[in-house]
Amino acid sequence: MRVDILRVENLTKRYGDFTAVAGIGFTVQKGEVFGFLGPNGAGKTTTINMLTGLARVTEGSAYLAGIDCVKETKRAQKLMGIVPDESNLYPEMTGYENLDFCGALYGLEGKERRDRAHELLQVVGLQEVAHKPFAAYSRGMKRRLTIAAGIIHKPEILFLDEPTTGIDVESARQIRKMLLNLNKGGTTIFLTTHYLEEAERLCGRIAFIVAGKIVKIDTTRGLLEKAQRGQTVQFSLSKGSERAGEVLQAAFPEYDWLVVDGQTLRVHSGKAIDLLPIMEVFRDNSLALYEARVIRPTLEEIFVQITGGEQRKMRAGGGAK
Ligand SMILES: Nc1ncnc2c1ncn2[C@@H]1O[C@H](COP(=O)(O)OP(=O)(O)O)[C@@H](O)[C@H]1O
Ligand SMILES: [Mg+2]
Repeated sequence: MRVDILRVENLTKRYGDFTAVAGIGFTVQKGEVFGFLGPNGAGKTTTINMLTGLARVTEGSAYLAGIDCVKETKRAQKLMGIVPDESNLYPEMTGYENLDFCGALYGLEGKERRDRAHELLQVVGLQEVAHKPFAAYSRGMKRRLTIAAGIIHKPEILFLDEPTTGIDVESARQIRKMLLNLNKGGTTIFLTTHYLEEAERLCGRIAFIVAGKIVKIDTTRGLLEKAQRGQTVQFSLSKGSERAGEVLQAAFPEYDWLVVDGQTLRVHSGKAIDLLPIMEVFRDNSLALYEARVIRPTLEEIFVQITGGEQRKMRAGGGAK
């Protein structure tokens, strides 16, 4: 049976007259890995911080296992593990001491606390550096210890903000494996990322956020299946081919056209695309075509299709106001 563990409605964050998160709503089901995906500045950190009580909610509500995250933040926090993008651990303490200290904060005592700290050091592969100061750890090691600290109290749901951003490949791989293991053990996982490949590998369901708004939510499988129906072709043109999009859109309105930039044009269709008539239109309009390439649909492709326009707006310096 599907049970919603987290229910978010109309969640909004304003900084002055700038709206960072614009009335978003979604639910997370117990036991799933839910991905919150979007480009830099989209509002991922702001959202996760509101859900976990690290940032004040301007408007809207969030309920975790029926507990009001806004009004009963402390109670809700008992059910959550939080792994912020910047570590919140003590640099001068060793790895072991940090975990021991976190255990104490959650009321663990004596042998139970020591055992839990050692167990977690093993889970995150840091036994060998357990007695080195946190400050001496690499970024990847720091992130792993921060995750260990986040799960010391065996939370129902673990929130992670970009857990593999800015760390070495091996640590990232270990973290992904750890998260999948945790999830197998029953922990619900909510993570933000701007790596589409990571989301594809880890997440059962994905919400895309752009400029403070959720533009799409679906299962990862559903997203990929929909994209795999039909075909996408990318055309590389000579510089200054901005008008190509309009010309092709007018000539073939039955296809979806996307202007990626002044030299790149994409076409998507639910059915196979007949390239010959398209080539003729390029030629008749003196548009120099260098390459036509069939694109294997990935989450990245879907992301561009969903957010293409919004991303261009954002690059132009807009954003949600
Ligand atoms: N304290 C703040 N004051 C004003 N604007 C902020 C503040 N924190 C974040 N923002 C803005 O809110 C938007 C969303 O930021 P953030 O949630 O950090 O995005 P993401 O985590 O998706 O990269 C950005 O435009 C950012 O500049
Ligand atoms: Mg962020």
